[in-house]
Amino acid sequence: MVATAIASQETPLSLGSEVELLGVSKSRPKGTGRETGGLVLSHVHLRLEPGSFVSLVGPGGCGKTTLLRLLAGLEAPSAGHVRVGGQSVQGPSPRRGIIFQDANLFPWLSVLKNTTFGPLSVGASPGEAEARATHWLTFLGLGKFLHRYPHELSGGMQQRVAIARAIVNEPELLLADEPFGGLDWITRELVCDELLRLWHTTRKTFLYVTHALEEAVYVSQRVVILSARPGTVARVIEVNLPEQRWAHADLRFTPEYARLVEEVREVFAEQTALAASVRAHV
Ligand SMILES: Nc1ncnc2c1ncn2[C@@H]1O[C@H](COP(=O)(O)OP(=O)(O)OP(=O)(O)O)[C@@H](O)[C@H]1O
Ligand SMILES: [Mg+2]
Repeated sequence: MVATAIASQETPLSLGSEVELLGVSKSRPKGTGRETGGLVLSHVHLRLEPGSFVSLVGPGGCGKTTLLRLLAGLEAPSAGHVRVGGQSVQGPSPRRGIIFQDANLFPWLSVLKNTTFGPLSVGASPGEAEARATHWLTFLGLGKFLHRYPHELSGGMQQRVAIARAIVNEPELLLADEPFGGLDWITRELVCDELLRLWHTTRKTFLYVTHALEEAVYVSQRVVILSARPGTVARVIEVNLPEQRWAHADLRFTPEYARLVEEVREVFAEQTALAASVRAHV
Protein backbone atom coordinates (compact mmCIF):
# COMPACT_ATOMS: atom_id res chain seq x y z
CA MET A 1 0.00 0.00 0.00
CA VAL A 2 2.71 2.45 1.07
CA ALA A 3 4.88 1.19 -1.77
CA THR A 4 2.07 1.80 -4.27
CA ALA A 5 1.62 5.33 -2.97
CA ILE A 6 5.36 6.08 -3.28
CA ALA A 7 5.64 4.53 -6.72
CA SER A 8 2.69 6.37 -8.18
CA GLN A 9 3.25 9.61 -6.22
CA GLU A 10 -0.54 9.80 -5.84
CA THR A 11 -0.42 10.30 -2.10
CA PRO A 12 2.04 12.99 -1.09
CA LEU A 13 4.31 12.10 1.83
CA SER A 14 3.33 13.88 5.02
CA LEU A 15 5.12 17.13 5.83
CA GLY A 16 8.02 17.02 8.29
CA SER A 17 7.43 18.03 11.88
CA GLU A 18 8.00 21.20 13.81
CA VAL A 19 11.13 21.09 15.97
CA GLU A 20 11.43 23.09 19.17
CA LEU A 21 14.30 23.56 21.58
CA LEU A 22 13.06 25.60 24.50
CA GLY A 23 15.69 26.90 26.92
CA VAL A 24 17.82 23.82 26.35
CA SER A 25 21.03 23.43 28.32
CA LYS A 26 23.30 20.43 28.47
CA SER A 27 26.14 19.86 30.86
CA ARG A 28 28.54 16.97 31.03
CA PRO A 29 29.69 15.33 34.24
CA LYS A 30 32.34 17.32 36.10
CA GLY A 31 35.85 17.08 34.79
CA THR A 32 34.83 16.63 31.17
CA GLY A 33 34.55 20.33 30.32
CA ARG A 34 37.76 22.27 30.76
CA GLU A 35 36.76 25.94 30.63
CA THR A 36 33.11 25.87 31.54
CA GLY A 37 32.71 23.26 34.23
CA GLY A 38 31.00 20.90 31.84
CA LEU A 39 28.39 23.21 30.28
CA VAL A 40 28.13 22.37 26.57
CA LEU A 41 24.87 24.05 25.47
CA SER A 42 23.34 27.01 27.26
CA HIS A 43 19.73 28.19 26.95
CA VAL A 44 19.26 27.24 23.34
CA HIS A 45 15.99 28.52 21.88
CA LEU A 46 15.32 27.35 18.37
CA ARG A 47 12.28 26.56 16.28
CA LEU A 48 12.38 24.81 12.93
CA GLU A 49 9.26 25.18 10.84
CA PRO A 50 7.65 21.95 9.63
CA GLY A 51 9.24 20.92 6.34
CA SER A 52 12.05 23.48 6.47
CA PHE A 53 15.73 22.93 5.63
CA VAL A 54 17.94 24.53 8.26
CA SER A 55 21.70 24.33 8.58
CA LEU A 56 23.66 24.65 11.78
CA VAL A 57 27.20 26.01 12.00
CA GLY A 58 29.41 27.07 14.88
CA PRO A 59 32.98 26.94 16.16
CA GLY A 60 34.48 23.50 16.83
CA GLY A 61 33.30 22.00 20.11
CA CYS A 62 30.36 24.41 20.51
CA GLY A 63 27.84 21.61 20.87
CA LYS A 64 26.44 21.00 17.37
CA THR A 65 26.67 17.21 17.61
CA THR A 66 25.31 17.35 21.15
CA LEU A 67 22.30 19.33 19.90
CA LEU A 68 21.66 16.71 17.21
CA ARG A 69 22.00 13.91 19.75
CA LEU A 70 19.38 15.62 21.93
CA LEU A 71 17.01 15.81 18.95
CA ALA A 72 17.73 12.19 18.04
CA GLY A 73 16.89 11.19 21.61
CA LEU A 74 20.36 9.70 22.17
CA GLU A 75 20.85 12.02 25.14
CA ALA A 76 18.55 14.02 27.41
CA PRO A 77 18.88 17.77 28.09
CA SER A 78 20.02 18.91 31.56
CA ALA A 79 17.41 21.71 31.41
CA GLY A 80 14.70 22.85 29.01
CA HIS A 81 12.52 20.99 26.54
CA VAL A 82 13.21 19.24 23.25
CA ARG A 83 10.09 18.67 21.15
CA VAL A 84 9.51 17.20 17.73
CA GLY A 85 6.02 17.36 16.29
CA GLY A 86 4.75 18.76 19.60
CA GLN A 87 5.94 15.66 21.51
CA SER A 88 8.72 15.65 24.03
CA VAL A 89 11.67 13.58 22.75
CA GLN A 90 12.09 10.63 25.12
CA GLY A 91 14.53 8.38 23.27
CA PRO A 92 15.60 7.27 19.79
CA SER A 93 12.90 6.67 17.20
CA PRO A 94 12.84 5.63 13.53
CA ARG A 95 10.72 8.78 13.05
CA ARG A 96 14.00 10.71 13.33
CA GLY A 97 16.63 9.75 10.76
CA ILE A 98 20.29 10.55 11.28
CA ILE A 99 23.24 10.63 8.87
CA PHE A 100 26.80 10.81 10.19
CA GLN A 101 30.13 11.61 8.55
CA ASP A 102 30.81 7.90 8.15
CA ALA A 103 28.19 6.05 6.15
CA ASN A 104 28.31 3.21 8.73
CA LEU A 105 26.89 0.64 6.31
CA PHE A 106 26.79 -3.05 7.18
CA PRO A 107 29.68 -4.39 5.06
CA TRP A 108 28.16 -7.86 4.79
CA LEU A 109 24.83 -6.63 3.37
CA SER A 110 24.06 -5.44 -0.15
CA VAL A 111 22.99 -1.85 -0.83
CA LEU A 112 19.36 -2.99 -0.99
CA LYS A 113 19.55 -5.04 2.20
CA ASN A 114 21.32 -2.21 4.03
CA THR A 115 18.33 -0.05 3.13
CA THR A 116 15.52 -2.56 3.84
CA PHE A 117 17.02 -3.29 7.28
CA GLY A 118 15.31 -0.29 8.94
CA PRO A 119 11.77 -0.81 7.61
CA LEU A 120 11.97 -4.59 8.28
CA SER A 121 13.03 -3.99 11.87
CA VAL A 122 9.95 -1.82 12.48
CA GLY A 123 7.55 -4.36 11.01
CA ALA A 124 7.26 -3.58 7.29
CA SER A 125 6.62 -6.60 5.08
CA PRO A 126 9.57 -7.72 2.92
CA GLY A 127 7.74 -6.60 -0.24
CA GLU A 128 6.95 -3.16 1.13
CA ALA A 129 10.48 -2.68 2.54
CA GLU A 130 12.00 -3.64 -0.80
CA ALA A 131 9.69 -1.35 -2.80
CA ARG A 132 10.44 1.61 -0.56
CA ALA A 133 14.19 0.96 -0.51
CA THR A 134 14.30 0.51 -4.30
CA HIS A 135 12.34 3.73 -4.78
CA TRP A 136 14.68 5.89 -2.70
CA LEU A 137 17.89 4.23 -3.89
CA THR A 138 16.79 4.82 -7.47
CA PHE A 139 15.87 8.42 -6.63
CA LEU A 140 19.43 8.86 -5.33
CA GLY A 141 20.95 7.45 -8.53
CA LEU A 142 21.76 3.97 -7.18
CA GLY A 143 19.19 1.98 -9.14
CA LYS A 144 21.92 -0.03 -10.86
CA PHE A 145 23.80 -0.80 -7.65
CA LEU A 146 21.11 -2.44 -5.51
CA HIS A 147 22.97 -5.74 -5.30
CA ARG A 148 26.47 -4.35 -4.84
CA TYR A 149 28.26 -4.37 -1.49
CA PRO A 150 29.56 -1.27 0.34
CA HIS A 151 33.22 -1.99 -0.50
CA GLU A 152 32.31 -1.84 -4.21
CA LEU A 153 31.03 1.73 -3.90
CA SER A 154 32.78 5.13 -3.86
CA GLY A 155 32.55 7.32 -0.74
CA GLY A 156 29.88 9.49 -2.36
CA MET A 157 27.80 6.43 -3.29
CA GLN A 158 28.11 5.06 0.25
CA GLN A 159 26.80 8.35 1.61
CA ARG A 160 23.86 8.16 -0.82
CA VAL A 161 23.03 4.76 0.66
CA ALA A 162 23.24 6.30 4.13
CA ILE A 163 20.78 8.99 2.98
CA ALA A 164 18.44 6.33 1.54
CA ARG A 165 18.61 4.42 4.82
CA ALA A 166 17.64 7.56 6.73
CA ILE A 167 14.74 8.54 4.45
CA VAL A 168 13.30 5.06 3.86
CA ASN A 169 11.49 5.12 7.21
CA GLU A 170 9.83 8.38 6.14
CA PRO A 171 11.13 10.23 9.21
CA GLU A 172 9.45 13.42 10.34
CA LEU A 173 12.93 14.88 10.91
CA LEU A 174 16.23 14.18 9.18
CA LEU A 175 19.41 15.06 11.08
CA ALA A 176 22.76 15.20 9.30
CA ASP A 177 26.08 15.66 11.12
CA GLU A 178 28.73 16.79 8.63
CA PRO A 179 27.70 13.95 6.35
CA PHE A 180 29.95 14.89 3.45
CA GLY A 181 33.07 15.90 5.38
CA GLY A 182 35.05 12.97 4.01
CA LEU A 183 34.22 13.60 0.33
CA ASP A 184 36.11 15.59 -2.29
CA TRP A 185 34.55 18.92 -3.26
CA ILE A 186 33.06 17.92 -6.60
CA THR A 187 31.40 14.81 -5.14
CA ARG A 188 30.29 16.87 -2.18
CA GLU A 189 28.52 19.41 -4.40
CA LEU A 190 26.77 16.61 -6.31
CA VAL A 191 25.57 14.84 -3.16
CA CYS A 192 24.40 18.17 -1.68
CA ASP A 193 22.23 18.62 -4.77
CA GLU A 194 20.82 15.11 -4.22
CA LEU A 195 19.99 16.03 -0.64
CA LEU A 196 18.30 19.23 -1.77
CA ARG A 197 16.20 17.35 -4.35
CA LEU A 198 15.28 14.85 -1.65
CA TRP A 199 14.16 17.60 0.69
CA HIS A 200 12.22 19.32 -2.08
CA THR A 201 10.41 16.05 -2.91
CA THR A 202 9.74 14.81 0.62
CA ARG A 203 9.24 18.10 2.50
CA LYS A 204 10.58 16.55 5.67
CA THR A 205 12.26 18.82 8.21
CA PHE A 206 16.04 18.75 7.63
CA LEU A 207 18.71 19.92 10.09
CA TYR A 208 22.16 19.90 8.56
CA VAL A 209 25.41 20.46 10.46
CA THR A 210 28.43 21.53 8.43
CA HIS A 211 31.80 23.24 8.88
CA ALA A 212 31.59 24.59 5.34
CA LEU A 213 29.87 27.98 5.54
CA GLU A 214 29.21 28.25 1.77
CA GLU A 215 27.60 24.82 1.85
CA ALA A 216 25.38 25.90 4.75
CA VAL A 217 24.09 28.78 2.64
CA TYR A 218 23.76 26.66 -0.49
CA VAL A 219 21.59 23.94 1.02
CA SER A 220 19.32 25.68 3.47
CA GLN A 221 16.54 28.17 3.89
CA ARG A 222 17.99 29.37 7.18
CA VAL A 223 21.48 29.22 8.70
CA VAL A 224 21.67 29.00 12.51
CA ILE A 225 25.01 30.10 13.92
CA LEU A 226 25.90 28.89 17.40
CA SER A 227 28.27 30.76 19.71
CA ALA A 228 31.44 29.07 20.95
CA ARG A 229 31.03 26.63 23.84
CA PRO A 230 28.75 26.72 25.71
CA GLY A 231 26.75 26.92 22.51
CA THR A 232 23.76 29.19 22.27
CA VAL A 233 22.05 30.68 19.22
CA ALA A 234 24.16 33.67 18.13
CA ARG A 235 22.26 34.50 14.94
CA VAL A 236 19.79 33.09 12.43
CA ILE A 237 20.27 34.19 8.82
CA GLU A 238 17.47 33.81 6.29
CA VAL A 239 18.51 32.50 2.87
CA ASN A 240 16.18 33.76 0.18
CA LEU A 241 17.61 31.90 -2.79
CA PRO A 242 15.52 29.88 -5.29
CA GLU A 243 14.38 26.53 -3.89
CA GLN A 244 15.46 24.37 -6.81
CA ARG A 245 19.08 25.42 -6.51
CA TRP A 246 20.42 22.41 -8.37
CA ALA A 247 18.71 23.81 -11.48
CA HIS A 248 20.62 27.13 -11.25
CA ALA A 249 24.13 26.30 -12.39
CA ASP A 250 25.41 29.82 -11.74
CA LEU A 251 23.84 30.27 -8.30
CA ARG A 252 27.19 30.08 -6.52
CA PHE A 253 28.43 32.98 -8.63
CA THR A 254 25.58 35.39 -7.87
CA PRO A 255 26.11 38.52 -5.73
CA GLU A 256 23.27 37.49 -3.37
CA TYR A 257 24.93 34.13 -2.65
CA ALA A 258 28.29 35.84 -2.03
CA ARG A 259 26.62 38.39 0.27
CA LEU A 260 24.94 35.66 2.34
CA VAL A 261 28.16 33.64 2.68
CA GLU A 262 29.96 36.81 3.80
CA GLU A 263 27.25 37.54 6.39
CA VAL A 264 27.53 34.02 7.84
CA ARG A 265 31.32 34.25 7.78
CA GLU A 266 31.30 37.57 9.70
CA VAL A 267 29.08 36.25 12.51
CA PHE A 268 31.13 33.05 12.64
CA ALA A 269 34.38 35.05 12.90
CA GLU A 270 32.88 37.28 15.64
CA GLN A 271 31.95 34.19 17.66
CA THR A 272 35.36 32.60 17.22
CA ALA A 273 37.12 35.85 18.24
CA LEU A 274 34.83 36.21 21.25
CA ALA A 275 35.65 32.69 22.37
CA ALA A 276 39.39 33.38 22.00
CA SER A 277 39.16 36.57 24.09
CA VAL A 278 37.16 34.79 26.82
CA ARG A 279 39.81 32.04 26.92
CA ALA A 280 42.55 34.67 27.21
CA HIS A 281 40.89 36.11 30.33
CA VAL A 282 40.30 32.92 32.31
N1 LIG B 1 30.52 12.07 25.67
C1 LIG B 1 31.13 13.19 26.06
N2 LIG B 1 31.65 13.31 27.30
C2 LIG B 1 32.23 14.45 27.69
N3 LIG B 1 32.36 15.54 26.93
C3 LIG B 1 31.88 15.48 25.68
C4 LIG B 1 31.24 14.31 25.18
N4 LIG B 1 30.83 14.56 23.91
C5 LIG B 1 31.22 15.82 23.64
N5 LIG B 1 31.84 16.37 24.70
C6 LIG B 1 32.36 17.74 24.80
O1 LIG B 1 31.25 18.59 24.61
C7 LIG B 1 31.60 19.72 23.79
C8 LIG B 1 30.68 19.79 22.60
O2 LIG B 1 30.94 18.66 21.79
P1 LIG B 1 30.21 18.45 20.40
O3 LIG B 1 30.78 17.21 19.83
O4 LIG B 1 28.75 18.52 20.60
O5 LIG B 1 30.69 19.74 19.60
P2 LIG B 1 30.66 20.03 18.04
O6 LIG B 1 30.19 21.46 17.88
O7 LIG B 1 29.90 18.99 17.33
O8 LIG B 1 32.21 19.95 17.67
P3 LIG B 1 32.89 19.67 16.24
O9 LIG B 1 32.75 20.95 15.45
O10 LIG B 1 34.30 19.37 16.59
O11 LIG B 1 32.17 18.52 15.60
C9 LIG B 1 33.07 19.54 23.44
O12 LIG B 1 33.84 20.35 24.29
C10 LIG B 1 33.34 18.06 23.67
O13 LIG B 1 34.66 17.88 24.06
MG1 LIG C 1 30.39 17.59 15.89
